[in-house]
Amino acid sequence: MLFKAIFATLAVVSTVAAVAAGGTGDSATERVKPNIVFIFTDDQDARMDSLSFMPNVQKHLVEQGTLYRNHYATAALCCPSRVSLLRGQCPHNTKVTGLILPHGGYNKFNLERLGEDYLPLWMKKAGYSNYFIGKMMNDYNIINYNKPTPAGFDYQDQLVDPYTYVYNNAVFSRNGQPPVYYKNTYQTDAIHAKALATLRCQRGKDKPFFLWLAPTAPHSQSKMGPQYGLSFLKSEPPVPASRHAHLFKNVKIPRTPNFNPANRTKTASYWKLMDRLNETEVAYLDEAYRQRLRALQAVDEMVGSVIEELEIQGKLDSTYIVFSTDNGYHLGQHRAYSGKTTDIEEDINIPLVVRGPGVAKDHVSDIVSAHHDLAPTFLALAGGDDYVPDWVDGGVIPWTDRLRSHPKPVSKESFAEDPYELYNIYGSSEATTELIDRLDALLSVLKTCHDRTCRDPWRLLHPSNNDVQTLADALDEKYDVFYRRMPKVSYKECLSFYLPLNEDPPYFEQQTTASLPSSRSLQQCSIFKPDDTKCKLLPQIIESLEDQSMSNEEVQRLISLVPQPSQSVGHHVPSEVELKERENPLPKELLEAKVNWSKYGFYGLFGN
Ligand SMILES: *[C@@H]1O[C@H](CO)[C@@H](O)[C@H](O)[C@H]1NC(C)=O
Ligand SMILES: *[C@@H]1O[C@H](CO)[C@@H](O)[C@H](O)[C@H]1NC(C)=O
Ligand SMILES: *[C@@H]1O[C@H](CO)[C@@H](O)[C@H](O)[C@H]1NC(C)=O
Repeated sequence: MLFKAIFATLAVVSTVAAVAAGGTGDSATERVKPNIVFIFTDDQDARMDSLSFMPNVQKHLVEQGTLYRNHYATAALCCPSRVSLLRGQCPHNTKVTGLILPHGGYNKFNLERLGEDYLPLWMKKAGYSNYFIGKMMNDYNIINYNKPTPAGFDYQDQLVDPYTYVYNNAVFSRNGQPPVYYKNTYQTDAIHAKALATLRCQRGKDKPFFLWLAPTAPHSQSKMGPQYGLSFLKSEPPVPASRHAHLFKNVKIPRTPNFNPANRTKTASYWKLMDRLNETEVAYLDEAYRQRLRALQAVDEMVGSVIEELEIQGKLDSTYIVFSTDNGYHLGQHRAYSGKTTDIEEDINIPLVVRGPGVAKDHVSDIVSAHHDLAPTFLALAGGDDYVPDWVDGGVIPWTDRLRSHPKPVSKESFAEDPYELYNIYGSSEATTELIDRLDALLSVLKTCHDRTCRDPWRLLHPSNNDVQTLADALDEKYDVFYRRMPKVSYKECLSFYLPLNEDPPYFEQQTTASLPSSRSLQQCSIFKPDDTKCKLLPQIIESLEDQSMSNEEVQRLISLVPQPSQSVGHHVPSEVELKERENPLPKELLEAKVNWSKYGFYGLFGN
């Protein structure tokens, strides 16, 4: 096996021998175009130990690679986080800060024309074949799946709403074709089978590939039906494959010091009003935790299969495998119920494990990075730096020695933590006004930063003074007056999305104008400014939003046209042939119905 791997590596190296000359084994492999497999779950925590329950991730990724324990989501919500990753930008620059119009979702992504210059297209320019299987983004649905189909993929097989969050209704659109469903199939297993089929097509091929696998697990399940009362909707813990339903009966959420504490531990905003959870509530959360771990088992099996297939092809040693998620999750910490979207560590600190040529093995790293750094880092691995636009905010994370000397590094700053966030030092003697002044100024820069200033905010504050590289440097007393005089961060009201007009000065960077904030202005756009490039896609999008105004019962009937399985699902991972046999077209009636899914509460309720 080892021999085969070396042989395959040499075969690739010989095609670009000039580039590879002189490197060590690892860095030679690192310099030819490596394959990248990106396994990307939904709402997986780093702080509640979920990775420890994934044996293949442990054996093949953590032990054979590096665990980055200070990796962060740019926003603790699926859609903004995913778009930030796809564009290498902070959410205030993508302007996608919610789940549906006017602040987020696939239609917003297209209105902002973000899909015309993003990660898959950069990878393509770098010479890669790109494959995507699973959930890319919220509100990619059975109406807008081809309006337009995401660009840059040689093959994509995307989950479509409103079925993305129903584990036993696997509904996909392949390459923008009308969606199909797989009868009696567990969603992650469908992704697993498709992933293997895609990888097997790489046998005997040398062209580098970027394969992105994005199951919905361990996101909560959302279901619709009259049995769920007035709201018609139910959010419940994720559903595991039946073969994993019996696992972990005695496992509980780790009882960290911030878990449902006897005394309140958070002192800002609504946190200070939260009551302690009672036994019934804690028991419910513990079961939700077990369901999450069980749902992750099918993902873990997929990781095992990916490794096995890469090994068969002799490509394991020339492939980077990156494991992460979109945002974190909390269950009972600081007395909060289940969810995300907040700024607590449970929601923003997320798993990141990397293995591949030149990546330290069995190593835990404290490097601080965030999701907007991933795209530029993938491109650096792919030898495609030239294709990363200057407006990208993220920098290159030093996963390998070669990347350590990259000219566009991630921000140097790291920080000491109070891991359970038990003590708010704001207002105490530990947090001096000098410190608070600096942090305030830093936030002023970061909340409107663009490209370079996101990676090195101190340059904007001290343009002609290279002595200030870090917070520690800035704390020098000679800058006290400067920071004291700086206007403090404030905003008009607490909104659940980002609106530049809501932010008070100072603005260090130019304010982006609030774009197209309502469907009314969408229409104005198409009526009054037909030549505006932003308006080009509008007729399609507006059409996709037309609503037939239906009763809940009618919407429920339409949804049920994709039948719920009659038996328990997920006894084994289907073969490619089995999966094909289970494939059915979505009924025409369902495809032609114009349902405004957001109106029926799909996104607000679940915080997808
Ligand atoms: C909770 O607060 C009370 C009153 O302030 C204090 O006496 C007690 O030690 C605190 N308990 C914990 C676990 O911190
Ligand atoms: C726990 O709290 C819930 C409200 O969230 C309440 O309905 C239930 O009766 C309480 N259970 C106990 C045992 O106090
Ligand atoms: C869809 O529903 C949402 C939520 O009710 C509403 O705000 C939006 O205006 C609707 N869109 C259209 C085009 O009717």
